[in-house]
Amino acid sequence: MAAQKEVFLLVAVVLLVVFPFSLATEVFFEERFDDGWEDRWVISEWKKSENLSGEWNHTSGKWSGDPQNKGIQTTQDFKYYAISAEFPEFSNKERTLVLQFSVKHEQKLNCGGGYLKLINGTIDQQQFGGDTPYSIMFGPDVCGEKRKRVHMILSRNGQYHNVKRIVSFQLDQLTHVYTFIIRPDASYSILIDNEEKQSGSIFNDWDLLPPRNIVDLNAKKPEEWDDKEHIADPEDKKPEGYDDIPAKIPDPSAKKPRNWNVEEKGEWKVPMVKNPEYKGTWKPRKIKNPNYKGKWVVPMIENPEFEDDPYAYVYPNLRYVGIDLWQVRAGSLFDNILICDDAEYARKVADETLGVYKEAEKTAFEKAQKILQDEENKLYGKRVEDEDDDEELDVEETDWEAKLREEDEGKHDEL
Ligand SMILES: *[C@@H]1O[C@H](CO)[C@@H](O)[C@H](O)[C@H]1NC(C)=O
Ligand SMILES: *[C@@H]1O[C@H](CO)[C@@H](O)[C@H](O)[C@H]1NC(C)=O
Ligand SMILES: *[C@@H]1O[C@H](CO)[C@@H](O)[C@H](O)[C@H]1NC(C)=O
Repeated sequence: MAAQKEVFLLVAVVLLVVFPFSLATEVFFEERFDDGWEDRWVISEWKKSENLSGEWNHTSGKWSGDPQNKGIQTTQDFKYYAISAEFPEFSNKERTLVLQFSVKHEQKLNCGGGYLKLINGTIDQQQFGGDTPYSIMFGPDVCGEKRKRVHMILSRNGQYHNVKRIVSFQLDQLTHVYTFIIRPDASYSILIDNEEKQSGSIFNDWDLLPPRNIVDLNAKKPEEWDDKEHIADPEDKKPEGYDDIPAKIPDPSAKKPRNWNVEEKGEWKVPMVKNPEYKGTWKPRKIKNPNYKGKWVVPMIENPEFEDDPYAYVYPNLRYVGIDLWQVRAGSLFDNILICDDAEYARKVADETLGVYKEAEKTAFEKAQKILQDEENKLYGKRVEDEDDDEELDVEETDWEAKLREEDEGKHDEL
């Protein structure tokens, strides 16, 4: 009997070691954009009536690590894009939430987003767009030099809170995988290409809850509060005759020049000089104030608005994933969207996708750049080649792109 139990335990341990993740993983949504993806996604009517809604292309893009591996790409400049998919409702209460996807900005992104949204409740997917309330928004966003960051916005009671730490990202024309993990202990991590870029506590890095304590605006400094650290010594008295000492005296060493011409220069006057005896206006000596009570500090009181909520980051009915973007230049390609409860599974997916195609994509990209360069050379004659291949993109923008960007910057800055 005992032996049987041991064997059973051994089998369980072996299983756990061999399949440490697969046992527990729950995948809520996974989209590789293989054939049939259109049945799972709804393209929104948002901005269509204004002819401002852009077309998606099902493609692997101009360069890729595997031309058979397609995603969806924005195709038209100065357009809005909105598309969403539904999955069986779930809550991230007491379980890890992982949101992961890859995006490749083929277009030298200068002003535009590359983020996903998770939406709870029930929405009309035909109308999904920038105004649709969401629970979580996650992904890179750039607009000029001023705004370049990975957004991690959490909603609570209709308000959106962006993470207080700035997480930047490499802006190039290759695929990168973005992963956002929220754990049941209210810790989080953000990974780019499976490398942790930031982590911490949700309650520290977001202002999801109002502050526990606030300054008491009704508090006044008590009138008798003595906050002078030093006072004049009452014992110190002005020496007698002090004020009689003049500041200046006639120069004792001065002599009237012998050839002084009274008619020309008037009467000779003894010049005045500083009096070495003079010590300035009398001031009593300073001493420590025996009644000093320290600086008065406005007292803090408990915030009546504060209500603790250990589950402030929990979304009870997550149900959709959506992409809604405004792009000045199109060309962002999304792929491998994954929503699950297992960070290790997500890591494996990223390894098996980007990990495998990364080098091939880089080679394909360099080849495409070379072809482009050769064509340009044919057209315009040989130019000095860009030296900063691996550096951050140097994106030039036209005047009206700059104008649009500035307008757009205003919109996001309040977050
Ligand atoms: C809609 O916009 C495209 C350019 O984005 C343009 O080619 C087309 O003519 C426009 N259609 C209408 C009806 O305005
Ligand atoms: C869609 O992608 C394919 C493959 O990259 C490309 O040949 C085609 O021109 C794209 N279509 C649009 C509308 O961009
Ligand atoms: C989404 O979740 C939030 C937070 O729990 C809740 O306040 C909101 O009503 C939900 N939205 C819908 C449409 O259910």
